[in-house]
Amino acid sequence: MAERELKTEQESATIRAWLSATYGIEASLSPLPGEYDLNYRVSAADGQEYLLKLHAAGDADELDMQVSVLEHLAAKASDLSISRVLRDRSGAVTGKIELRGPRTARLLSWLPGDIWAKAPVRNAASAESLGRLLAGLDRSLEGFTHAGTKRLYAWDIGRADMHRKHLELIDGPDKRAAVDAILDHFALAVQPRLATCPMQVIHNDANDYNVLLDGQGQVSGLLDFGDMVETWRVIEIAVASAYALIRAADPIGTIAALAGAYHQVNRLSETEVELVFDLVMTRYAVSMCMAAKQIRDNPENTYLLVSQEDVWRELKRLQSENRAIAIARIRDACGLAPIPHAAAVVRWLEKNAHDFAPIVRPDVAKPEVAVFNFSASGPEAAQWASPDAAEAEARIAARIGSERAAFGIGLYGEDRGIYQGEAYQTSVEGARRSVHLGVDIFAPVHEPVSAPFAGKVAFIHDDAVPYGFGPTVLLEHEIDGGVRFWTLYGHLSREIVAKLSEGQAIAKGEVFAAFGAAEENGNWAPHLHFQIVTDHLGLGGRMHGVGVRDQWQVWRDVSPDPSVVLGLSVPVSVIVPRDKEFLVRERHRRIGRSLSIAYSVAPLKIVGGEGAHLIDEEGTRWLDMVNNVCHVGHCHPRVVRAAQAQMRRLNTNSRYLHDSLVEYSRRLAAQFPDPLNVCFFVNSGSEANDLAIRLARAYTGNRDIITVDHAYHGHLSSLIDVSPYKFAGKGGEGQAAHVKVAEMPDLYRGRYRYGDEHAGRKYAEDVRRQVEALAANGRSPALFFSEGILGTGGQLSLPEGYLREAYAHVRAAGGLCLADEVQVGFGRVGSHMWAHELQGVTPDIVTMGKPIGNGHPMAAVVTTEAIAASFANGMEYFNTFGGNPVSAEIGLAVLDVIRDERLMHHCRVVGDRLMDGARVLAGKHAIIGDVRGYGLFNGIELVRDRETLEPAARELDFVIAEMKREHRILLSSEGPHHNVLKVKPPAPFSVEDCDRFLNALDETLGRLSG
Ligand SMILES: Cc1ncc(COP(=O)(O)O)c(C=O)c1O
Repeated sequence: MAERELKTEQESATIRAWLSATYGIEASLSPLPGEYDLNYRVSAADGQEYLLKLHAAGDADELDMQVSVLEHLAAKASDLSISRVLRDRSGAVTGKIELRGPRTARLLSWLPGDIWAKAPVRNAASAESLGRLLAGLDRSLEGFTHAGTKRLYAWDIGRADMHRKHLELIDGPDKRAAVDAILDHFALAVQPRLATCPMQVIHNDANDYNVLLDGQGQVSGLLDFGDMVETWRVIEIAVASAYALIRAADPIGTIAALAGAYHQVNRLSETEVELVFDLVMTRYAVSMCMAAKQIRDNPENTYLLVSQEDVWRELKRLQSENRAIAIARIRDACGLAPIPHAAAVVRWLEKNAHDFAPIVRPDVAKPEVAVFNFSASGPEAAQWASPDAAEAEARIAARIGSERAAFGIGLYGEDRGIYQGEAYQTSVEGARRSVHLGVDIFAPVHEPVSAPFAGKVAFIHDDAVPYGFGPTVLLEHEIDGGVRFWTLYGHLSREIVAKLSEGQAIAKGEVFAAFGAAEENGNWAPHLHFQIVTDHLGLGGRMHGVGVRDQWQVWRDVSPDPSVVLGLSVPVSVIVPRDKEFLVRERHRRIGRSLSIAYSVAPLKIVGGEGAHLIDEEGTRWLDMVNNVCHVGHCHPRVVRAAQAQMRRLNTNSRYLHDSLVEYSRRLAAQFPDPLNVCFFVNSGSEANDLAIRLARAYTGNRDIITVDHAYHGHLSSLIDVSPYKFAGKGGEGQAAHVKVAEMPDLYRGRYRYGDEHAGRKYAEDVRRQVEALAANGRSPALFFSEGILGTGGQLSLPEGYLREAYAHVRAAGGLCLADEVQVGFGRVGSHMWAHELQGVTPDIVTMGKPIGNGHPMAAVVTTEAIAASFANGMEYFNTFGGNPVSAEIGLAVLDVIRDERLMHHCRVVGDRLMDGARVLAGKHAIIGDVRGYGLFNGIELVRDRETLEPAARELDFVIAEMKREHRILLSSEGPHHNVLKVKPPAPFSVEDCDRFLNALDETLGRLSG
């Protein structure tokens, strides 16, 4: 690409005059780079900018192709960030101009951004956004045809074979040899597979001068459709990747990000995905051939020499990558299994494990093992940091002896610090190979090694370097369908390995090797490194024994967990911790997408909890103000101990007699007045409410249910029906015929407001109206659902007398009344154990969940003997997990802690302080419209105007995001207008926590108004 200057002021004047006459635009010009065309940035007097292209007289077909494709895309993909053609005063899209000869002129819309090669911010998201743009473009180009695109084009790498003739023009034998090898591979392996892939017109030149990036590094535009060609679609990705990876820290990661993002928008076939890497190499080879030819034709073109430096450097970088790993990483990014047959190998191993022979100590039926922790972050890290073999050997032997173990174990998946040398570096800076791909078995030198199943010797290798594998053998195994895999044995005795030969058959249980001494095994304490290998990555006997942590999803497919072969009584593998980006991606892939992630812009990885705090992977403590589930505090030691102790003794179903269950039912029922005496134990709030519906229907013989508007009572189908929050919301199917919805008693923005002393009665009138509506059809309610404080309604405290009146209307019609205490129960409201008690009512059924088990999945229903009796109609109610001894012990511990730590009172004191403080803030920040709640179940409602009550939802989003970012405080929003700050922290939330929250809220609201 040659930069061309506006040769003279006169040329500039010519163009400006032409623009004025043809488009009516008065403008100034600045020249832009271009290989064949003259390009100008046009800045019009009105501030608008344009791109002016002056094409030299030449290939009319090609120019027409460029014009038509933009017309096509204008109609098909108006949202794509590409230039748009502008029509001149006569409606034409091209014009004629004389400038260093006759030229065709086109005026295009200007795209914002900097060209990729010079953009100040370039990151992983850049490659992804480029992938998405190209995918959208290619989808829109499907079916587009033009005579100009049907060409045998030298820049179409699908025809790379045509460049072979330029090979001898390439300067330097190493470059020539590299290009030769790539073109050979293309002809033999790539082209035949490419031939089976889809073809279409593609842009074919998303290079670093044609792609624009915005200030965040996101693609803001794609230029220049002059290289379009009808060819194989996947080439689009290869061309873009070849430039996107220039100077990128992780070239393969860049290709994978681009291809993965492309695939999400425009699905690629498995073959296409597998060809991307080779095609990037092909692009470099073609580029080198083209450059060699052009330099011969045009020796003064120094620009080519410069761009060729990038090409040669990146080609060498890609050559230093393991091709199989590169392809596996690209497969993974496109949602394919990194190693296609790895899952089949694992299934075969698990299915046949009963038939495997022990690898060491066949005479010990159930070996006890001493498990070592060699991890870089483990408590013994310092001890193992400098691996002096003799010292390590002595220490290991002593531990094995003291534990009376048969042998020692080093774990699979362990991230170790011992692998330091150059051999463990990768081409990605900072990405060392450090995660152990096998299991180490420690035993004295000369310990015999047997084959776990039949195979043949595939590779023998002895790297003979310190901290290498030493003598190593890979046995090859074949399973159903001709799939092959390998088992790897490292650090063996040289003398015995010398007796093996490649191809030699080894029977199951046959001793074929022995542990080597430190001097021969790479200078390690004697041990066997045992590894399963689904793909030896073309390395054969040089196969790696450790992988890259950030690429673990690929390496674990290459070498799956060998536990299955050993069958020991303790885990010999660990979960490799991964970064947040990976976890988000994997969650999206493996877990139903309807489950959202909190703070999705910057999600948290939480690994611990204590009291009212959550702890992330870096040890940062977050004040958790939205967790009424871990009611008595995260990981409360008394609850944890109770669970552990009972887990150790027994966990079974509730059909056997057990003291804990009966004791728990007595303690729970004692929290309610007569006649609420009978418990049912279930596993979730939803199950509790579902059972309540069945109880009410059995008792009343009625089917209809009345619920309060905006309520949520659970995720089962029966509960979605009584949850207007769900059935009337996004994706909801509307109100069911058996459900009536009563008006939400909202004292802040409803029909009857604070100050109306009859508001409770007036709102309850709507419950009466629902009862009457049923009666008009000859029906009566089975059950009235309500919470004591309305959670999803917006943390709304009920008006005085509301439940008393509502219950009376329902009961008068023969219905039952339920208090859903799933959110608000267990002393959170401070003055009472249950929120419904604030209303002075006794329900017929109470349902409990969330806080009942402090995070353990359990829930309960408490009702009257009469209602329970009506349900015992011959059909048994059995719940596999409900009321199991572990749950019962946990439930008891929770009640004990609430009692012994005076948590109910604590909730009242701290909750009052919080609401008083928030009301003081309301005096300062007009956006606080209402502060309400009881104890530690509160709502702070934000409004833009205290008269109109216009909800301040966006402002609340800002507050929540800033409270997290600046103050490490976790909060969320609630209510139909998403403008209520929800407060429901674990009960140990302290006075200091409260003040910290108030100060942080003050500061954040101050910034909001500022
Ligand atoms: C008031 C109420 N009832 C019932 C449920 C359902 O409980 P679970 O999620 O344990 O099924 C919830 C859950 O958020 C709830 O808030």
